[in-house]
Amino acid sequence: MPSASRVQHELARIQTFFPALTALGNRFAAERPFDGLTLGLNMHLTTLTAALVRELQLGGGRFVVAAANPATTDGGVVEYLRDIGVEVHPGTGRSDAQSPVIAAAPDLVGDVGFALGEAMIAAGTRPKHGLVEITGTGVARLRAREPLPFPVLNINDGRLKKAIENRHGVGEGLWSAYTTLTGQHLGGRRVRVIGYGRVGAGVAGYAKAGGAVVEVVDTDPVRRLIARFDGHVPIDPGAVTRPQVVVTASGTRHALSVADIGKLPDDTVLINAGHHPDEIDVPGLAAEATEVDHIGPRVVRYRHPKGGHVVVLGGGSPLNIVMNAGSNEPVLLHFTLLALGMRWLLQAERPNGENKLPAVLEQEVARLWLPGA
Ligand SMILES: NC(=O)c1ccc[n+]([C@@H]2O[C@H](COP(=O)([O-])OP(=O)(O)OC[C@H]3O[C@@H](n4cnc5c(N)ncnc54)[C@H](O)[C@@H]3O)[C@@H](O)[C@H]2O)c1
Repeated sequence: MPSASRVQHELARIQTFFPALTALGNRFAAERPFDGLTLGLNMHLTTLTAALVRELQLGGGRFVVAAANPATTDGGVVEYLRDIGVEVHPGTGRSDAQSPVIAAAPDLVGDVGFALGEAMIAAGTRPKHGLVEITGTGVARLRAREPLPFPVLNINDGRLKKAIENRHGVGEGLWSAYTTLTGQHLGGRRVRVIGYGRVGAGVAGYAKAGGAVVEVVDTDPVRRLIARFDGHVPIDPGAVTRPQVVVTASGTRHALSVADIGKLPDDTVLINAGHHPDEIDVPGLAAEATEVDHIGPRVVRYRHPKGGHVVVLGGGSPLNIVMNAGSNEPVLLHFTLLALGMRWLLQAERPNGENKLPAVLEQEVARLWLPGA
């Protein structure tokens, strides 16, 4: 299918199954909050972003968009956005797409990773009404740049992202990626989850719902107790059990070391759900392994120096992201928060620096996604 019509089909699907986006667009069409303004966006150019920009555009204004990363840029989306009158700069590297957006002097910015924000500071310019930052990485970067010369709304640290995207988005996506790569069903499998924060709780909960028996390791005994009340088997760090699948979700480097791997049963499947690609010490394992077999794309089997084998999925990077797995809904929900956050920045003069997410915005998002409930 030609990419433009593929994108049209995708957008029709998103519009059909996620009416909250249409409701948002209708609201913006009535209010026209962006009339007379230039809006700069730095985002991954996926069909989900195209769906967001289409609704934002109904609120008026001129849109100038940079690709956050050429590796995540969908050429069909670039074509589509240009067709609807958006200026798009795909770029060839991580930063050259941003220069034309800065040259357009945006009044208001939506950013991923604070890349556009940092580039504007370096260029000595500022978005008059401020910037909305979507990601945790971006929040860490902007905090390191304080004091900031413009207001920033942090939409990463709200209640919804942690409760929905971290828990349900990762939990669902990780197991669908596992099934795609292995063909295995979860029913009756023994799964160990290392780290029982939001991500680990989601991974454990979706495994249990799929019929797995889940054991949970956490260095924090309180989290282990919570895991027990959620219906999982808490085990002490260092306890030797016989899992068939181990998932790390701790945010800690080497939460699963080469020595830990040596204690696992033969052919245990290892998966990471945490942000850092070295939660499982895959480089250490690769260096010490006595055999390495590339079974298929993103599936590698290692023979541990102690004799047994393990199979690593996705090279130890977060598997749901590597496989782009899981439903669109948590991301689209976060995008509606971005849209309402941009409008919020326009409603009053906000103080320079990080602005915490006001509860009313998340309540508005919840009402949009729960019409009549
Ligand atoms: N895959 C994704 O798409 C995705 C999405 C959001 C967040 N993340 C990442 O997932 C990770 C977990 O996020 P969270 O919000 O659940 O964090 P969190 O800090 O709430 O939970 C982490 C848990 O791991 C425990 N822990 C830390 N080190 C440990 C160790 N060595 N052994 C056992 N337990 C240990 C902590 O006590 C804590 O309970 C982070 O790296 C986060 O960036 C991934």
